[in-house]
Amino acid sequence: MYGNELDNFRPDIPELGHIPQIGLDGDAPVPDENPVRAQVPTTSEADFDGFQMPQFPLAGELSASETEMFKSVVEKYFGEDIQTYEAPSKITHSRSADDVEPDSKKCLLTDNGFGIGIPETELVRNLHYEEADTIDQTEIRKQFPILDQKVNGKDLVWFDNGASTQKPLRVIDGLSHFYKTDYSNIHRGAHTLAARATDQYEAAREKVARFINAPSTDNIVFVRGTTEGINLVAQTFGRKYLLENDNVIVSTLDHHANIVPWQQVCKERNAELRAIPIDKNGDLILPELERLITPRTKFISVGHVNNTFGTINDVKTIIKIAHSHNIPVLIDGAQSVAHTKIDVQDMDCDYFVFSGHKIYGPSGIGVIYGKKEALELLPPWQGGGNMIKDVTIEKTEFNEPPARFEAGTPNIADAIGLGYALDFVSSVGIHNIERHEHDLTEYARQQIALIPGITLMGNPQKRVSVVSFDIPGIPAPQVGQMLDKEGIAVRAGHHCAQPALRALGYEMSVRPTFAVYNTREEVDRLTDALRRIVGNTK
Ligand SMILES: Cc1ncc(COP(=O)(O)O)c(C=O)c1O
Repeated sequence: MYGNELDNFRPDIPELGHIPQIGLDGDAPVPDENPVRAQVPTTSEADFDGFQMPQFPLAGELSASETEMFKSVVEKYFGEDIQTYEAPSKITHSRSADDVEPDSKKCLLTDNGFGIGIPETELVRNLHYEEADTIDQTEIRKQFPILDQKVNGKDLVWFDNGASTQKPLRVIDGLSHFYKTDYSNIHRGAHTLAARATDQYEAAREKVARFINAPSTDNIVFVRGTTEGINLVAQTFGRKYLLENDNVIVSTLDHHANIVPWQQVCKERNAELRAIPIDKNGDLILPELERLITPRTKFISVGHVNNTFGTINDVKTIIKIAHSHNIPVLIDGAQSVAHTKIDVQDMDCDYFVFSGHKIYGPSGIGVIYGKKEALELLPPWQGGGNMIKDVTIEKTEFNEPPARFEAGTPNIADAIGLGYALDFVSSVGIHNIERHEHDLTEYARQQIALIPGITLMGNPQKRVSVVSFDIPGIPAPQVGQMLDKEGIAVRAGHHCAQPALRALGYEMSVRPTFAVYNTREEVDRLTDALRRIVGNTK
């Protein structure tokens, strides 16, 4: 889990020596020789920006006396700067500061139910949510009321998650609460509601940064979604840096959202768009990348996970190759962010974009992560309020990123809603989600492969959450309608990935895609329905 990262923040506090220094998953004590072990700051040297907050035992039971000891140690080392208090016991699985003090980001929680107020939110980013070992499907499904309905007389099966995911109560209720009690425009208001709304919007930015391990909230730009994010980067970068006869590289696996914007800007600048080819399994032929790169290659933009075959691309290798030629890289994370752990610093991408609605959040909100220098490279995109420092009739002085790219009133509520969605994902645990979805995907592939008359498409080496198939003789949209009659929602069509499908000789596919709330029983419902559909055509 996150054991190693937590280890880095373990304290060296003598008074705590007798308290078991267990990690979130009850892992072994940290060896003393751990080279990156944090030193305990004294109050005067406490560098709250420098990640020196000691990590106290976060899992397991602390006795009442240990709890008292913990509090006294915290007070000793942090004195006036820190506040300890009892946190509601019902939130033992969450470390979101918002759960304790809605208006404060200055807290972290421990499993035994007390929190520490800390003076810098920076620290909170380094704390991770506890993951249970398994997913409690019943509990999770209760959080998605939309699933509890009949469609065409049958229990709804939502297998259209690749297009968009359903929303948990945490998002639905959170949005409703925001509109009922705190709604205001942000950043410029002098009144209480403006302050509350601004705090929540910026807290959502903080949650995003933490979720993808961005170094700072300054790396996070809110946009409408992946499509807008890629258009923003393509247009700003392209118009400033692309010259005639330069080229940009995308991949054949990519969604149209990562092809068309680059095609448009290349056309405008008389540059060339190149694509990494794929093999018959739906894997990128990576050795081709080196052949495509020339001294005139200015940008590489590729998808992390393909939306039709579920291929997980080896983006770290792509980024390494690109950087060895000093080429910046954008990763389209629309299909990966909800399914696998994203660590943008480890990935080393220059930009990473994703949409809120594919990760249990609202539609109309998305994110561009950019390295500081990568965002600074880009000129402003849209002009207007918020993105400026000073305006005269003659000229404008622009804001620094991220404000530079957030002109006008943003999608305030949905950014906050995205924060709640990330809370939800974190509370379940992205590794648990990944494991669960992998199980469903492999089970579905095995079961569908057993049905004569159905062809599975693609067989990539590493994949998540997507199965695509063809029933020769029945057009995909018709299969989609037949499944809808059974209450099963799947996508059927070209999935905005025509180059990928065509490379494997298809125009369309039927595509069930899985999320945390789906079950093996639902996969059985799908395969039973498919058997009937195929049987009826004979
Ligand atoms: C890989 C990929 N990229 C980009 C997009 C576009 O996302 P959005 O429509 O949310 O902008 C999608 C949507 O399906 C996708 O699957």
